[in-house]
Amino acid sequence: MTEQQFKHWRLERDNHDIAWLYADKAESAANTLSKAVLEELYEILSQLNEQRPQGLIILSAKKSGFIAGADINEFTTLGGKKDAEDLISRGQAVLDRLAAMDMPTVALIQGFCLGGGMELALACRYRIADEDPKTKLGLPEVNLGIHPGFGGTVRLPPLIGAPAAMDMMLGGRALSARAAKKIGLIDYAVPARRLLDAARETVLRPPPRKRATGWKAWTNHNLVRPLLAKYLNKQVAKRARKDHYPAPYAMIDLWKDHMGDPRRMMREEAASVARLVMGDTAQNLVRVFFLQEQMKSLGNKKEIEPKHVHVIGGGVMGGDIAAWCAMRGLNVTIQDRSHETLARVMKRAHALYKRRLKQPRLVQAAMDRLMPDIKGAGVPKADVVIEAIFEDVDAKQALYKEIEPKLKKDAVLATNTSSIPLETLCKCLSKPSRLVGLHFFNPVAKMQLVEIVCGTQTSDKAVKQASAFCRHIDRLPLPVKSAPGFLVNRVLMPYLLEAVTLEEEGVPAVVIDKAALDFGMPMGPIELADTVGLDICLSVARILSQQLNVPVPGRLEQLVSAGRLGRKSGEGFYRYTDGKKVFASENKDYTPPADITDRMMMRFLNEAVACLREGIVDNADLLDGGVIFGTGFAPFRGGPMHYIDAGGREKLLHTLEKLELNHGPRFRADTGWKDSD
Ligand code: NAI
Repeated sequence: MTEQQFKHWRLERDNHDIAWLYADKAESAANTLSKAVLEELYEILSQLNEQRPQGLIILSAKKSGFIAGADINEFTTLGGKKDAEDLISRGQAVLDRLAAMDMPTVALIQGFCLGGGMELALACRYRIADEDPKTKLGLPEVNLGIHPGFGGTVRLPPLIGAPAAMDMMLGGRALSARAAKKIGLIDYAVPARRLLDAARETVLRPPPRKRATGWKAWTNHNLVRPLLAKYLNKQVAKRARKDHYPAPYAMIDLWKDHMGDPRRMMREEAASVARLVMGDTAQNLVRVFFLQEQMKSLGNKKEIEPKHVHVIGGGVMGGDIAAWCAMRGLNVTIQDRSHETLARVMKRAHALYKRRLKQPRLVQAAMDRLMPDIKGAGVPKADVVIEAIFEDVDAKQALYKEIEPKLKKDAVLATNTSSIPLETLCKCLSKPSRLVGLHFFNPVAKMQLVEIVCGTQTSDKAVKQASAFCRHIDRLPLPVKSAPGFLVNRVLMPYLLEAVTLEEEGVPAVVIDKAALDFGMPMGPIELADTVGLDICLSVARILSQQLNVPVPGRLEQLVSAGRLGRKSGEGFYRYTDGKKVFASENKDYTPPADITDRMMMRFLNEAVACLREGIVDNADLLDGGVIFGTGFAPFRGGPMHYIDAGGREKLLHTLEKLELNHGPRFRADTGWKDSD
């Protein structure tokens, strides 16, 4: 056995004369394909081409996984389109050299294998992956506003057929090893203990190479591509508009126009990614990626090692928080006053696990970790106690008084309150500094953000522990001041209320929602209000209207008094059957007021500016991250503060002044617009 150490790779030669090449990027916990890593790989491949071992097995020396993808930091320092195209073409050349090796090549995959890492694996003749659920294979480039650029779009469709390839690249979702085996993306999915043997066997006795055959191969045919492309374009259009997210459309065109000529397609792939990566959408989505990383770093897992979580209140929120924590591997006791409620929690949890975990063994294990606990026996054992009972000061305080003496010394005591100041709630505690807010959003399994609410009394330790806890359950923590609405509800509410005012003035709900969707919001504000529940909207609006001096539209009160509470009651602004919105047609002759998008979005932006001025969050980047992950604010615009800077502060301020003139003082510009000039 010989060994050769490079800066980012380690090469071993075993006594079967097989080369084992370990990716081990210097000074990094995970492997990424930076320029330097790729250049070194090129040198190593050239060396191996001369030495001619029996075969080459590429694997990772990192615990974290195989290779995470290209180095996204390099996307932010590109000098221009030419620079981008050069970088991508060079990456392609390195992987082309790998693909052309005159020996069996195997990618041996454990953990994540994403983006450029997946493209490297595709350039190998064989792929073998660990069947553990931690293995994730995918091409998530669309999430960054680009598409695969190191030959992925060229190599994947012939391997697994166009429908599966396009599904993988357009959806950007990662696959488990089993799913990858099923579609032919990998050759074998084996248990960890069998991995090395399987790779060795494959090199010594190489099986025939996989390729799509039969109808799957036909899907890449010159005559079929235009038809399939039409269908794919239609599917994509349901999810993303071309002017907002151009990458999926560019990828479909690339495949349709060039799949017949792979060499040419390589060049076009590089040109297309270079065009996309320099565009606003990709630059903003890369910004969102880094904002997410920044928010992740706000929670240091070492601050707490939660083993047991106790949740009190098994309603909409508490039940789902408990289910989520158990799914993430924690032992959870869930307390409520009624057996029926707890039974509902277990049923909902089961549905969630079936949807997300799929394998019966994993579903059962998660169910075993979630324990109904009507008497609250979990309180003294818990490292984190989350209270999610009715929004009522007296009820919450009575509960705290009862449980405080039973808590473990260092246990975190958290509340999910949306509107009661922590300073009020903590009054009954003998140690008020331990109370912190963990404000989850509905639906818990979908919304990544958790606001860490810091009252004036909350200790730094409690904030750090709560933030760390969020990382343990794979949520993004955002410390916010304990002020009405915190960040997310505060910026959302004026925007929702403006939408309701427009509806009150006679603008059809569909027209209002369409305007917001056209801006890039994930759901229209009227449908969002119906989904949250108009009673909940009204109660948050009342609290905020007092504090922020904004009017609550009479229409909202009127609907709630009439029992029209939104989706849950079957009718709100829209009608619903079985929870599904009944189609509301648009009157084609109707002309909406010209300023409807401005009215809604300027109230949103104005409130964001006010939050920053008041220090609800620490800085503009965190505000942007919080608002994107908490409200879905058009990610391709990079967040409200970024949008303001990119769109021209002065111009937007002028729009706001015009709106104030036409519609009144609710559009008065916050003083923060001028402060940060
Ligand atoms: P909910 O009304 O659906 O559930 C409350 C549950 O608490 C009920 O099952 C009730 O039986 C139980 N409960 C009440 N007192 C109890 C006690 N002393 N001991 C044990 N169980 C008790 O309420 P929801 O909507 O889940 O809200 C809970 C908390 O979460 C509130 O503070 C609310 O402001 C907050 N919140 C709600 C959101 C939402 O979208 N509904 C979003 C974010 C926060």
